[in-house]
Amino acid sequence: MANPCDTCPTKICCNPKGPIIIEGDVNIVDKYGRPLCPDKKKKSHVLCGCGQSLNKPFCDGKHNKAGSDDDDDDISDA
Ligand code: FES
Repeated sequence: MANPCDTCPTKICCNPKGPIIIEGDVNIVDKYGRPLCPDKKKKSHVLCGCGQSLNKPFCDGKHNKAGSDDDDDDISDA
């Protein structure tokens, strides 16, 4: 049986203690609606889900030092 989300144009992959990966067309804006993505042609974005990034809302890799344990908390298998 096909997953009804297979045809969705945008995919968001959430890692509980790490990055949130967005694939597909999306417009990321700040709280005032101002665009945050300098490259409009970019088809994937990685947002910080751990709170440690110095470049929020984007991931800067600090989650690796924050002790991300993606194997134990991976919700994609749920
Ligand atoms: S998820 Fe926070 S720095 Fe990568």
